[in-house]
Amino acid sequence: MSQQVALPRVALRDVQLPVAAELEQVVDELRRIIAADFPIISEVNEHLLRMKGKLFRPTLLLLSHRAAGGDDARAVTLAAVVELIHLATLVHDDSVDHSALRRGLPTINALFSHQIAVIMGDYLYSRAIIELVRLDDPTPLRVLARVTNEMTVGEMRQLEAHDKLAYGEADYDQLIRAKTASLLSGACEVGALTAAPAYRQALARFGMLLGMAFQITDDLLDYTQPEAVTGKPSGLDLREHKVTLPLIAALARMPADGEGRVVAELMAADQMPSLKQLLQEQAAGRITMGGRLQ
Ligand code: IPE
Ligand code: IPE
Ligand code: MG
Ligand code: MG
Repeated sequence: MSQQVALPRVALRDVQLPVAAELEQVVDELRRIIAADFPIISEVNEHLLRMKGKLFRPTLLLLSHRAAGGDDARAVTLAAVVELIHLATLVHDDSVDHSALRRGLPTINALFSHQIAVIMGDYLYSRAIIELVRLDDPTPLRVLARVTNEMTVGEMRQLEAHDKLAYGEADYDQLIRAKTASLLSGACEVGALTAAPAYRQALARFGMLLGMAFQITDDLLDYTQPEAVTGKPSGLDLREHKVTLPLIAALARMPADGEGRVVAELMAADQMPSLKQLLQEQAAGRITMGGRLQ
């Protein structure tokens, strides 16, 4: 039996309030770290800086730093580095996903080219590493190097999940841990590096679970919200044949020799509009914005 818990609605702005001043510095740090004197790179940089994200990972790092009793000015630089790693993965992810819209603006692959997106992802990531090395502290470097490697394996798992209707919840959990939650966990852990190990581990675990919930919500929003709300194309996961939790959950309640077989046929025949309609009928009333399928 599913249990409904009434939670108060909390705006991201409220969560960010305690670190609002540092978040403004993060944007300046980001601009400093990615600066280039090569024309195409600076042109792409300008576009990227116009695309404003939520700064969720820097927020987590800075809040975690506060929660662990830290007061290190380097936290702002580390927060910028974490956002930069995120940005590099988004630039690559949009190219891999053939996506044309991000944060309400054209993606790098759409506005420039796939080649430029590949090179720029590497440029941004390598700038993040240069900055980490400059801090001359192996601990955040160790955490973030591990996390970025995990993210690449996650993106590879995502490719493997294409068209795979046998993909189950356990596979999906493993995928979202690596692809998304690892960086949120890393952000929380790096914020708490100076704290006692038990504190640091607890915050890393919090970030991991929050990151999984975050990706599940993103995957739901892909099915339920228009691009005017998300700033990204709506329904892209299905069009790209990505098997995510809404599809896994819908398939689980369809008989394999009935609707389940129809889904497989529609997927194989690239009939995405009909498939979307079938899934919507199936899921009608069952998808909640609480990130849970009832
Ligand atoms: C997008 O992350 C990628 C996912 C892990 C779903 P965000 O939703 O945090 O993207 P921005 O940075 O706010 O644009
Ligand atoms: C998250 O997956 C991407 C990364 C963690 C890099 P998605 O492909 O679902 O993210 P969006 O929807 O494009 O932001
Ligand atoms: Mg994507
Ligand atoms: Mg998505």
